[in-house]
Amino acid sequence: MAGRKKLSVIGAGNVGATCAVWAARRELGDVVLLDIVDGLPQGKGLDLYEASPVEGFDAKITGTTDYAGTAGSDVVIITSGLPRKPGMSRDDLLAANTKIVREVAANVARHSPQAVLIVVSNPLDAMVTVAHRASGFPAHRVVGQAGVLDTARFRAFLAEAIGCSVKDVSALLLGGHGDDMVPLPRYASAGGIPISQLLSAERVDAIVQRTRTGGGEIVSLLKTGSAFYAPAAASVQMAEAILRDQKRILPCAAWCDREYGVGGYFVGVPVVLGAGGVEKIIEIELDDAERAMFDASVQHVRELVNALP
Ligand code: LAC
Repeated sequence: MAGRKKLSVIGAGNVGATCAVWAARRELGDVVLLDIVDGLPQGKGLDLYEASPVEGFDAKITGTTDYAGTAGSDVVIITSGLPRKPGMSRDDLLAANTKIVREVAANVARHSPQAVLIVVSNPLDAMVTVAHRASGFPAHRVVGQAGVLDTARFRAFLAEAIGCSVKDVSALLLGGHGDDMVPLPRYASAGGIPISQLLSAERVDAIVQRTRTGGGEIVSLLKTGSAFYAPAAASVQMAEAILRDQKRILPCAAWCDREYGVGGYFVGVPVVLGAGGVEKIIEIELDDAERAMFDASVQHVRELVNALP
């Protein structure tokens, strides 16, 4: 009998623990939570497991400080690192989180050499690069979570403005996970209707701007850290696409070489996500304005990656 899939989540803070909750509720497989703070992953893991009879999910949830416990994972979500505080940009986390993510990715790779890595730590596009280098994995098995979160914000704000179900709003967003990310209103629709027929240009512009600064909006409200419900939901949607081989088309930070003329960096683009990780990068048509915004965002990613310690 085939066993369950195995999902490990590195970091049992707000994002990591919330990933475990969403993943368990969806019965994606057994979940291992790992953190360096002894007791934290074990306590949260046991607590979540004890919720399973009430919520009715069958999944083993365990916590550990030892990477041996993550061995043989199919997917590993890396949430480790510091979150930003008010007044900080994601880029301010570069030095501290590089050190952490490098060590985590090397440990993960040693114990789960066949896993697909989903990186959530910030600054996202640079941390995916760090995980790729430190794991030694082929690029299609290392992917960054940013676009699903950013389009989720975009879709939520659009649905609110249109006055329709969030389920009917589909949208796309490209580039890095910074305030220069590129939401693409031309590729957004509600119930198949282009949003240009449902909202004024001014309204759409305001939503694009709110989407770009959506992470900062949460940081300034929380004051002690950054968003976690939506980032975790987005990460788990990606994990599900891989674990169930759904071949979903999702915007993810993927390795682009010739694609979009990026030249060997991880940036947000639409990909087909399945059991093999990034199975395909989809190149879409961009008009001149979209292309200019995309190039500026990619240039920012290049500078960040070139500044990696
Ligand atoms: C955000 C942070 C987590 O966008 O990057 O909320």
